[in-house]
Amino acid sequence: MVGVLRRFGRIGRQLAWNIEYRQGAEFVGARSPVLLELLAVLLPGRRVVELACGDGSLAAALGGFGHATYQGFDISSVAIALAIRRQLPGMTFAVADMESWTPAAPFDLLLVEEAIYYLAPDAQVALLERAFAAMGPDGLAVIVLHSATKHAAIIERLGQRFRLVTDRRERDRAYLVLGPRP
Ligand SMILES: C[S@@+](CC[C@H](N)C(=O)[O-])C[C@H]1O[C@@H](n2cnc3c(N)ncnc32)[C@H](O)[C@@H]1O
Repeated sequence: MVGVLRRFGRIGRQLAWNIEYRQGAEFVGARSPVLLELLAVLLPGRRVVELACGDGSLAAALGGFGHATYQGFDISSVAIALAIRRQLPGMTFAVADMESWTPAAPFDLLLVEEAIYYLAPDAQVALLERAFAAMGPDGLAVIVLHSATKHAAIIERLGQRFRLVTDRRERDRAYLVLGPRP
C-alpha cells in the first residue's frame, strides 16, 4: 500500500511517509558513530540544513557540536511534528520536498542521510547543484547511503559531478562529503 502511494507524486509520497511515521517507523542511521565523528569535525561554526531529517533523531544528537544554525526539512508532516516536539534549542523544522526545495536562508553545510535515493538521478544532481550555488565555494554536502553496493551508481554520479572531499565506509554504509568543483 505504502509502496503504491509513493508512485502518486508529491502528495502520494507525503501520505506514504506519514503512514510510516504514524506506524512508529524509526531509522537507525542517525546513531552511526562514523557519521557523528565526521560531523564533530565539520559542524563547528557552520549553518546546517538537513533535508529528509525525519523525526529529528540526528538533530537531537548534534546539540553539542557547535553548529551556528540548524534547519531541518522533511516531506512528512508527521515526522516534522515529531521533530518539533523534541524542542531542540535553536533548531527549526518545516515540511518541504527536497525535489523542489530551494534555500531561503544562508547555509554552508547540507546533510542528507538515507534519503537522496528517493529522488531520480537527475533530481539528485539538481538538488546538489542548487545547494552548492547557494552555499558558495566553501559549502559542503554530507550524503549518507546505507549501502554503497546498492547505490554504487549514485556514488559514481555524484563523484563525477562534484568534488569528493571524503569517502568514509562503515561495513557497506557510505558517508560522502562533497564540495563544488572549482
Ligand atoms: C529512511 S528515512 C531517513 C530519515 C533520517 N534522515 C534518518 O536517517 O534517520 C527517509 C526520510 O526521507 C524523507 N523523504 C523522502 N522523500 C523525500 C522528499 N522528496 N523530500 C523530503 N523528504 C523526503 C522521508 O519522509 C523520511 O523521513
